[in-house]
Amino acid sequence: MRNSRRAFLRSVLAGFAAIQALNASAGLAYAGGKDGLATRYIDDFMIGSMIDVKFLLDPEPDLQALVAKEFNALTTDNIFKWDNIHPAQNIWNWAHADVFVDYAAKHNMYAVGHPLVWHSQVPEGLFSKRRLNQKSSAQYMDVLLDHISQIVGRYAGSINAWDVVNEAFDDDGNWVRNNWYQIIGETYIEESFKAARPADPTAVLIYNDYNLWKPVKRRRVIDLIKDFKRRGVPIDAVGMQGHIGLGYPDLALFEESIAAFGEQGVKVHITELDVDVLPGLPEHEFPQYKESLDPYRVSLPEAVSIQLAERYRQVFEILVRQKTIVERVTLWGVSDRHSWRNDFPIPGRTNHPLLFDRALQRKSAYDYLYQLK
Ligand code: G3I
Repeated sequence: MRNSRRAFLRSVLAGFAAIQALNASAGLAYAGGKDGLATRYIDDFMIGSMIDVKFLLDPEPDLQALVAKEFNALTTDNIFKWDNIHPAQNIWNWAHADVFVDYAAKHNMYAVGHPLVWHSQVPEGLFSKRRLNQKSSAQYMDVLLDHISQIVGRYAGSINAWDVVNEAFDDDGNWVRNNWYQIIGETYIEESFKAARPADPTAVLIYNDYNLWKPVKRRRVIDLIKDFKRRGVPIDAVGMQGHIGLGYPDLALFEESIAAFGEQGVKVHITELDVDVLPGLPEHEFPQYKESLDPYRVSLPEAVSIQLAERYRQVFEILVRQKTIVERVTLWGVSDRHSWRNDFPIPGRTNHPLLFDRALQRKSAYDYLYQLK
């Protein structure tokens, strides 16, 4: 009896694996006929961009045209976050997500949903004192799983990949003691993946996090994958965010992480790539604004522009080398004008982390990547 159940489970899992493999290779089809950066890398991986939904709702035609031409994958930064899409119990805001999904379909782009479960950007009421007193941890688990099933189910077949859980571990590889962890415990993460799979068996399920080049954090996520695989918990890919700088991290560590995740039989998606060019700050310190920390307000000096381009080239050389593992590389924004890097960790600076400048013109970084192929 046990054996036949195991055999059945094995065949179900093999079926899912086959669907995932098909889905991944189908991703390459998204680049067809566009003749932009993504087309250049059609044999390697998809190249995506994050777009703020406001540019889809109140169209900036130039920006939209550029996105449709240059990229074959699309992510949006905030609309799938709990406070936007599910602002109160039984209240769902589908309108923005629908616009996003329609745009991606219209332009034949691989659509990524970000994120299903995160501790940040949740509505106040979700963890209010009153609700915490009323609900047991089992009831909170139901809320979490229903949230996932409803969203993934609604966009089944339209969203190709989900960042199922975002940023569950800190830089030392310890659990982030967020509300989900404190109320439900460690199982919140595996239950989230288990809920996402049946809601859309064809969607690629991603664990997404920052600083995964750090060996201690890498090891923690590898332990998670090993544990998931041993127990049949579904996971298809690791999302390495890729918020890096001109001088950090050591890219050898970044490459080691890609290879190490690949060895565990999961793919890697670089989910949020951008390169900070502003003066480095001590980690986890948030000083006040001062002009000396904001040196490129008027323009990016040529020498730094080349440094940025070279940094992008080094990153892409690694990604191409690891192309059997890397499925997608997504830039966290289109133009420097809209990057979150202008406001983090110090608000109001002028950063230049992306491939297109504030006037939507290609930067040297773009040209270097175009010519690399
Ligand atoms: O919607 C409100 C608006 O009503 C209000 O007037 C305005 C005033 O500040 O804030 C608006 O909310 C902002 C929201 O973006 C929508 O624009 C928040 O303040 C702002 O904090 C939020 O920032 C987002 C950030 O996640 C929050 O942590 C960024 O856009 C988004 O790019 C960023 O993305 C994250 C990924 O999800 C996870 N990985 C790191 C990455 C960068 O922080």
